[in-house]
Amino acid sequence: MKRLSLQPPIIEEAGPDWLIPAHPQPLAEPPGGLRLALMARHSLLGLWTRESYAARDFAYPLLRRQVCVFNDPASIKAVFVTGAERFERKGAMMRRALTPLLGDGLFISDGETWRRRRPLVADIAHKTQVPFYAPMMTGAAAEMLAGWRDGQDISLLPAMAELTAQIIARSIFGTRLGEGALAGIVQGFARYQAGIDSFNLPFFLGAAEGWPVGRGRAMREAIAEVHRVVEHVITEHVAGRGEHGSMVDMLVRRMQRSPELGLDMQALRNEAATIFMAGHETTAATLTWAFYLLAKAPWAEARLHAELDSVLGDREPTAEDMARLPYARAVIEEALRLYPPVPILPRQAREATQVGGIAVEKDALVLVVPWILHRSPDLWDKPMHFRPERFLEGAPVPYSYIPFSAGPRICAGLNFGLTEAILCLAAVARAFRLRLAEGFRADPVCRLSLRPRAPILARLERRA
Ligand code: HEM
Repeated sequence: MKRLSLQPPIIEEAGPDWLIPAHPQPLAEPPGGLRLALMARHSLLGLWTRESYAARDFAYPLLRRQVCVFNDPASIKAVFVTGAERFERKGAMMRRALTPLLGDGLFISDGETWRRRRPLVADIAHKTQVPFYAPMMTGAAAEMLAGWRDGQDISLLPAMAELTAQIIARSIFGTRLGEGALAGIVQGFARYQAGIDSFNLPFFLGAAEGWPVGRGRAMREAIAEVHRVVEHVITEHVAGRGEHGSMVDMLVRRMQRSPELGLDMQALRNEAATIFMAGHETTAATLTWAFYLLAKAPWAEARLHAELDSVLGDREPTAEDMARLPYARAVIEEALRLYPPVPILPRQAREATQVGGIAVEKDALVLVVPWILHRSPDLWDKPMHFRPERFLEGAPVPYSYIPFSAGPRICAGLNFGLTEAILCLAAVARAFRLRLAEGFRADPVCRLSLRPRAPILARLERRA
């Protein structure tokens, strides 16, 4: 109870045709060192004052570490694009949290390893490949919907996570992975995620690398289970028994064709596990928040239904429909603005340097925070409102909208993730309306991804 009282209250307001969805009330003044550290352990979304949301940069010492927050689009460009080499290194906490599971996988690697592997991973998740994966997206959605019943209650995030895990697993490993192996890998990732801490105090006390995350027996077992399944699939592929066209298949063929890339079993396992982790949590969170927002905004839901009914009628969506579903796309884009699945992008400064008006120290923790950037009153009209139309009216200011990050380290699965989210949204919303319990309000928290603290339960109402 004591921990909870550290958090600001959650605000949500709505009228007949408007919605300001759930968010922690901005603080009146910045919390001091120890309080900040304690709050940060709990969630990183409630730490910001009203002033933090302005499109400007600020820096402060946190215990013995300099923390720089860049919220001016020009500075964000300097961090992610023009100065990318100085800031390519992920924050120590993120590396510490993910390395035991993902090794030197792309999400957390840097330097030569990242440079060698990025084109490889970018290739296999590239937009030209997306049409190949689209039937796996719509197929998995159709299977899920076939099991849904009118009047049934579902817990949104686990349901969406199951769907996106099915999709990414079939895309990476092929469709013959088998239910047991898939369940093992999904549970392994979930157990691992539940066990990691988003805040590494020693880092702020001066240890440039932080300290290793605690690794109890449950964590070690979770890691072993994930590694075992992934290695088994790779071995099958190497032996020529894998499924043609899957991402692992492409990785294995590249390994066999280009020995100079130095890809071994461990490297393939790390990249496959990274794509799984990066590519399933995030899309599940996007869909969860999109359905939460629609359930709270009946006027937006009605407009989406009208679009789906006119474009799809009584059939399921396919990749060819994408261009004809602008409102569905806008709903996803607006969900990604208000609830960016990766709400904080942490970097560690490789060297001392200047960005905008801030002298960045070597090893400073550099934060670009989509959560505050996407709600900045200087960059967005009615920033706290849910208004999908804004994405139909014009493009955002450059570097003001970065749910997929920006620059050379931009999400390698951007097109995959967007297509998946739009097709799954369309498939579900065509068939069902999702209703929340009267008065329910979500409480967004930042773990590795932005998720609701308590389960969001939704009642299914069949539409078609
Ligand atoms: C809506 C869904 C998604 C969102 C919002 C999202 C967001 C992000 C963000 C913000 C980053 C950069 C993190 C940072 O700079 O610290 C990232 C990186 C990455 N994402 Fe995604 N992602 C999504 C879906 C996917 C999918 C479907 C895949 C794979 C098919 C994927 C694969 C990756 C990989 C491999 C990286 C590391 C790239 C690198 O460091 O070079 N993501 N993603």
